[in-house]
Amino acid sequence: MSEVVKPKIGAYKRHILICTGPRCAEDGAAQALFDSLGDKFKAAGLSEGELRVKRSRVSCFAACKGGPVMCVQPDGLWYYNVTPQNMDKIIEQHLVGGEAVEELVFHRGPGCA
Ligand code: FES
Repeated sequence: MSEVVKPKIGAYKRHILICTGPRCAEDGAAQALFDSLGDKFKAAGLSEGELRVKRSRVSCFAACKGGPVMCVQPDGLWYYNVTPQNMDKIIEQHLVGGEAVEELVFHRGPGCA
């Protein structure tokens, strides 16, 4: 019987989850957003170090409109209409600056102010 290998992930400050499911955004928009983040994070200093942001795709949050939609943890903030321009704003103001982009927030999770 083979031994189960314990997984490892690198340290990070925030984890963003982007829905790439078929119902909340135009075809391919959420995947394109996800694909753009490697370069954007590198340019903003978010790909390593203290502010490192981990990113993952999910198949559906049961929100299903107004996409691309994205959740930022551990802040518990949910953003909608994450166009490339809005992502730039979220990177600068929230992921680097620590302040939510209020006009794009559609939900706050438990424990959020
Ligand atoms: S398909 Fe994206 S939230 Fe449901």
